Amino acid sequence: MIEESTFQMYPVLIGLMGCGKSSIGRLLAEELGLTMLDLDHYIVEKAGKTIPEIFAEHGEEEFRDLETEALREVLGTPVVIASGGGVVMREQNRAMLEVHSPVIWLKSSLHFLAARIQGDENRPLTAGRDALTVLQQLAEVRYPYYTQCADYVLHRGEMNKAASLHAVLEYLKQWKYECSGGQSLQNDRSQTFILND
Ligand code: S3P
Repeated sequence: MIEESTFQMYPVLIGLMGCGKSSIGRLLAEELGLTMLDLDHYIVEKAGKTIPEIFAEHGEEEFRDLETEALREVLGTPVVIASGGGVVMREQNRAMLEVHSPVIWLKSSLHFLAARIQGDENRPLTAGRDALTVLQQLAEVRYPYYTQCADYVLHRGEMNKAASLHAVLEYLKQWKYECSGGQSLQNDRSQTFILND
């Protein structure tokens, strides 16, 4: 467990469906002594409806309204936020994320993600469809937005959860160091951090 006083930061995880935002967010929150807030769960609790119900009964736009409202309510509170994959779709959300640090994009190959989410009925955008095709379409639109909002991109590749967590924590240490006036170790906002071990 990392000293709480070392970190005064409330990270937000972004990325396509299935990239591990909730599971890595949970581990990260534990390390930082924070709680993990899953934005989808927050929306579901508030609406009293599941995500598929919200999509089916009110449509995607209504879901996006709820998502924006939820983001506004929780951003900056002392939690690790695991956002929904589409949180970057609204300009207002991107504006909120751009001024918030640190925002971390968990990036995995589309094939990997498709294998993870194929057949998941809880994700209305891919339910009953070929997940890879949908993800390819989403990636085309969303990658520039993720790039715009992210302070750090974790290219997960073959990394398991523990290695991913380690990489994110290393980045956060560096981020904290830079925030406290240390010399910048990283020029490119979105460059991959190289692990020392
Ligand atoms: C969505 C992603 C989902 C959820 C909703 C829409 C998206 O969250 O918010 O089904 O537009 O990519 P996860 O990324 O946690 O699956």
